[in-house]
Amino acid sequence: MKTLADLLAEGVAGRRVLVRADLNVPLDGETITDDGRVRASLPTIQQLTGAGARVVIAAHLGRPKGAPDPKFSLKPVAKRLGELLGQDVKLAEDVTGESAKSAVESLRDGEVALLENIRFDARETSKDEAERGALADELAGLVTAFVSDGFGVVHRKQASVYDVAKRLPHYAGGLVLAEVDVLRKLTEDTERPYVVVLGGAKVSDKLGVIANLLTKVDRLLIGGGMAYTFLKAQGHEVGQSLLQEDQLDQVSGFLTEAEKRGVELVLPVDVLAATEFGPDAPHEVVPATGIPADRQGLDIGPETRELFASKLADAKTVFWNGPMGVFEFEAFSGGTRAVAQALVDSDAFSVVGGGDSAAAVRQLGLPEDGFSHISTGGGASLEFLEGKELPGVLVLED
Ligand code: 3PG
Repeated sequence: MKTLADLLAEGVAGRRVLVRADLNVPLDGETITDDGRVRASLPTIQQLTGAGARVVIAAHLGRPKGAPDPKFSLKPVAKRLGELLGQDVKLAEDVTGESAKSAVESLRDGEVALLENIRFDARETSKDEAERGALADELAGLVTAFVSDGFGVVHRKQASVYDVAKRLPHYAGGLVLAEVDVLRKLTEDTERPYVVVLGGAKVSDKLGVIANLLTKVDRLLIGGGMAYTFLKAQGHEVGQSLLQEDQLDQVSGFLTEAEKRGVELVLPVDVLAATEFGPDAPHEVVPATGIPADRQGLDIGPETRELFASKLADAKTVFWNGPMGVFEFEAFSGGTRAVAQALVDSDAFSVVGGGDSAAAVRQLGLPEDGFSHISTGGGASLEFLEGKELPGVLVLED
């Protein structure tokens, strides 16, 4: 696999280079609430501009429906990227149209242009290879080399991630290399005890990874919305809490499998049960085995926080993905904070797996250097741990 270092050694001064970055940040209106992914993209971009390349960035934001939609414009991202780079970032008004072409043509050495949300073009995510290929051809026509640095999106077989690499000399960017390197440590020669903490709303998003982890980990701690499907599968009432009835059989299977394999599967023992979903919802601590019919669990309770911290205390390797509760609401952020703090306090090799948990670490004000690695990839890191091949990485190996 060729890397950014190889490209730099070839010489990039005056060359137009396409960088696929993952700049998919959470927004509140036009305000970025967590710029972690933008910051993580800087080193690759800066190495290229520093060497005189003319950098063209392709990125997506959210999941627009294959057509321009101002709600999903990369405008706030272009502004933030410009601030962090300390130079103007030209935002094209389209993906590969006249605006993009003229933005790219007007680039001088060391300058940066950002194409508008690549998913404004329906071909980006098309299942049809020819359609994706047509967009990839247009992208390839803008530049002479491709650097893949959007780790968060390497699990997607999409035009700007996969097909474009087939059409241009391609190189793995520093972020992709670093992420893959860290995640490999979680799958090969893992130091034990190896503990995984999973949370987040839906158990259905994590079926593959749970099945795979049950063959690898010593302990699996489950919190967040997905815990209620496990509690229900054990025969407990969960009131109005999030529940995926259609996953109950699968989850029961996981409970049996964990027991068979001697994996300690740890569920909440108490929860904060609220009368409704909201930041100021009245709530109380109740046992996880007795959530009242008219209440919903919005966070793990104090006893569970201690229990989880104790299960993390002697770990040598930890992977954490998904918040323990609705951390965006202060009243229900304590469980997520407690797990994050337990990781900060531990000597384990600790990896935070992207998306919401990475945002939570920063929003709750925990020190980023308290963790061995904070991944920029949510789905991508889970698919890696699931043992799936990531098309955006595989294609770089050709
Ligand atoms: C993410 O947020 O995990 C990545 O940016 C990928 O986004 P997607 O799930 O919409 O493909």
